[in-house]
Amino acid sequence: MARLSHVALIALGMTKGAQAWGALGHATVAYVAQHYVSPEAASWAQGILDSSSGSYLASIASWADEYRLTSAGKWSASLHFIDAEDNPPSDCNVDYERDCGSSGCSISAIANYTQRVSDKSLSSANHAEALKFLVHFIGDMTQPLHDEAYAVGGNEINVTFDGYQDNLHSDWDTYMPQKLIGGHVLSDAESWAKTLVQNIESGNYTAQATGWIKGDNISDPITTATRWASDANALVCSVVMPNGAAALQTGDLYPTYYDSVIDTIELQIAKGGYRLANWINKIYSFEIAKRDHGAFHDHSLASSKRDISGRSFLPKARPVSRAQLARAAMDGDCCNSNRHNH
Ligand SMILES: *[C@@H]1O[C@H](CO)[C@@H](O)[C@H](O)[C@H]1NC(C)=O
Ligand SMILES: *[C@@H]1O[C@H](CO)[C@@H](O)[C@H](O)[C@H]1NC(C)=O
Ligand SMILES: *[C@@H]1O[C@H](CO)[C@@H](O)[C@H](O)[C@H]1NC(C)=O
Ligand SMILES: *[C@@H]1O[C@H](CO)[C@@H](O)[C@H](O)[C@H]1NC(C)=O
Ligand SMILES: [Zn+2]
Repeated sequence: MARLSHVALIALGMTKGAQAWGALGHATVAYVAQHYVSPEAASWAQGILDSSSGSYLASIASWADEYRLTSAGKWSASLHFIDAEDNPPSDCNVDYERDCGSSGCSISAIANYTQRVSDKSLSSANHAEALKFLVHFIGDMTQPLHDEAYAVGGNEINVTFDGYQDNLHSDWDTYMPQKLIGGHVLSDAESWAKTLVQNIESGNYTAQATGWIKGDNISDPITTATRWASDANALVCSVVMPNGAAALQTGDLYPTYYDSVIDTIELQIAKGGYRLANWINKIYSFEIAKRDHGAFHDHSLASSKRDISGRSFLPKARPVSRAQLARAAMDGDCCNSNRHNH
């Protein structure tokens, strides 16, 4: 498909503000995950989502981006990223206590919804919400600029890509993946996912895939999700802007820059899907199967006695940082502009 102009995308209601890994990236993460979810976990997830469709995860993968743009869902905007206040390109790192913020971030959200998705005291609507958020946030987290505060995650780095004025964040989320695949509907995502699964099964990802989920621990979602965020954040220094932001503003990012990052984009999408499936499988086998057999113990996530507000996962309040002020200014502006993407 020829690339639609950005104006046409906005006219179709596909505003750039609504995308994060655009719809294509999120659906591809979800299709990769569907391949690796166990049959038991898949029917549990289908039950929660009330869907037996062959796209049961892919079709809800971008729900969280639509929800955040509604007045009812505005509160959830900060959960799509963690603003690592590091110093790329010389120094990349994520510090949960420093970076998460008192209203939460992707890491606290993954912990919160991992707990809530299996909590017996919650309603089926709560379970569906939790699973939809997990499918989305585990995807968001593998996009390096979702793990970076610099220039509001690259939203404020104006660049030119393939002849269009963009910002770096939206190129990573949406325009570079679409350039590679040539479309953004579910069938595009499904065929991209097939290629990525082949690469995991017997291709250039085979040797590394087990490393993507190494140490993932359902009883310690904060540590696990912080490791995922750190892994992607490191790529901000090594791949996204190895020579700093100004070096990206001297000419069109296509083809030289695109060629230098597109393998990483594919890798991160594959990784997100593989991790998501493993996480869902763990939630199923460590929580749901045990709970349903009446065998869970007190510190199990399935216990109904603990605080399910998620507040216990948040870091202690700290003074508001410059990056948080910048983010707050952007969130207030998020829905009227086509340039803001987190
Ligand atoms: C980036 O572009 C936007 C909109 O095109 C503009 O409002 C903003 O001032 C630009 N920022 C910089 C730093 O050039
Ligand atoms: C992995 O293989 C695919 C082809 O299936 C190729 O497009 C991609 O560039 C390769 N990635 C790396 C990192 O070599
Ligand atoms: C998983 O996390 C729990 C809680 O922090 C810890 O007790 C347990 O040892 C961890 N399991 C592994 C295999 O590291
Ligand atoms: C946990 O999720 C619930 C339901 O979406 C939400 O109301 C609550 O604010 C979340 N807690 C945190 C700390 O994000
Ligand atoms: Zn998002």
